[in-house]
Amino acid sequence: MQERLENILLAVSRSADIDGGQLDKATETILEAIMDGLQITRVGIWLFKGSTHEMSSQLIIDKNSSDTSQTLKISEDDYPDYFATLRNERTIIANNAKQHPATHELAEYMTAYGIYGMLDVPLRHKGEMVGVLCCESRKAERKWTEDEVAFAGILADIYGRAMSSAERVQFEQMLLKQNEQLEAIVEQRTKSLQEALDNFKQAQDRLVETEKMAALGKLVAGVAHEVNTPLGIAVTATTHCEHRLKKLRTAFEDGSISRKQLATFISDTFDAYTLLSSNLERAASLIQNFKKTAVDQSSFELVECALADYLNALVISLKPMVKKKKVSISIDADERIKVKTYQGALAQIITNLVSNCHEHAFTEADEKHHISISVEAHEDGAVVRFKDNGKGMETRTLKSIFEPFYTTARDHGGSGLGLSIVYNLVTRKLKGQIDVQSTPGEGSEFILLIPNL
Ligand SMILES: Nc1ncnc2c1ncn2[C@@H]1O[C@H](COP(=O)(O)OP(=O)(O)OP(=O)(O)O)[C@@H](O)[C@H]1O
Ligand SMILES: [Mg+2]
Repeated sequence: MQERLENILLAVSRSADIDGGQLDKATETILEAIMDGLQITRVGIWLFKGSTHEMSSQLIIDKNSSDTSQTLKISEDDYPDYFATLRNERTIIANNAKQHPATHELAEYMTAYGIYGMLDVPLRHKGEMVGVLCCESRKAERKWTEDEVAFAGILADIYGRAMSSAERVQFEQMLLKQNEQLEAIVEQRTKSLQEALDNFKQAQDRLVETEKMAALGKLVAGVAHEVNTPLGIAVTATTHCEHRLKKLRTAFEDGSISRKQLATFISDTFDAYTLLSSNLERAASLIQNFKKTAVDQSSFELVECALADYLNALVISLKPMVKKKKVSISIDADERIKVKTYQGALAQIITNLVSNCHEHAFTEADEKHHISISVEAHEDGAVVRFKDNGKGMETRTLKSIFEPFYTTARDHGGSGLGLSIVYNLVTRKLKGQIDVQSTPGEGSEFILLIPNL
């Protein structure tokens, strides 16, 4: 091949335009090289459109015309011989194009642009013919040399290379865009998930708070009821005394008072006062115990808790809750066992367990119903065993009791939150452990490990 042509090919091959991904730029570079190499003034790239029966011009460069922006189209219907030859995928070398069997149909086109010779080289991409490189000579009797044909062929191949690069860059950009979209979606989803989680946490906190207040509410109702009884007796005793005193005053003013009458009055009054003071004392002790446990149920503070003392006071407050079903509660704890913990949380846990016994373990009133709470020292703190002799639980129930909203008493107003809150309080707040064992018909036992905090 002529050195001049070789040099042009080398320059094109090395040009950054070819593999840069911008097909327009690469096409221009290739067409300029063709014009330079073949010394022609008009050259174009034509590509099949949809099928191999129709082609349109992709880019035409014409040194004699400044406006080549118009897209030209040709179809097999008008140029059957030309299309039939192209389908052989061989280069058409037409020195006198108007006479050549492959190009004679294009006579009108040639006249319009002053063309004599044509060198049409197939363009291939991924092994398929996609169009032609049309080199057009305006010189009469132009003879395309072998070198020129080879030169045009190589540039046609370089065009295929440029097409692949453009496709690759397009894919890369698409991937990049998809990646960005994906990242945006992931970010959006993460945000929504985070929001949902935050909402869930808030809802959970609210539920814990509500349940805490509900447990406290039950306690208040029970204690209020219990305090009402001794206070009622005290009021009756006072009224009785007042009545007797009035009678005594009348007799005294009449001067009709007898010694016997006075003696009866004094004895009655003593009885009334004994009743009065014992009932007032009972009311006061109930209030005292209630204060000890209820106050810190709503505010959790870390304290050194003497378990025996604390549980005794708590149970006195809780007894009214289970009184209807005649449930007795006993405590077996060494006075010396102390644990540094949130005793308010512990009170809430025991309140929930007692409430569950009343709701689920014992169905009717029976003197035999019993809850025993025992405390043992443990190297980390203390172990509290809470045991009832109620109806117990089936394995299926036992598996789910700590799950939020699991309840077998939805019809009776159970929300299924009691034990899930107990679980959270023991494991999270008190950093302890909770375990449960149960036999249907025999009862249940909750075992709590309460560590020193
Ligand atoms: N001591 C028990 N004896 C028998 N079954 C029990 C006992 N404690 C709990 N259960 C069972 O465990 C379930 C879940 O208890 P949990 O305290 O979580 O909910 P609940 O008592 O049904 O409703 P809530 O406490 O919210 O009012 C109960 O529905 C009940 O079936
Ligand atoms: Mg419950």
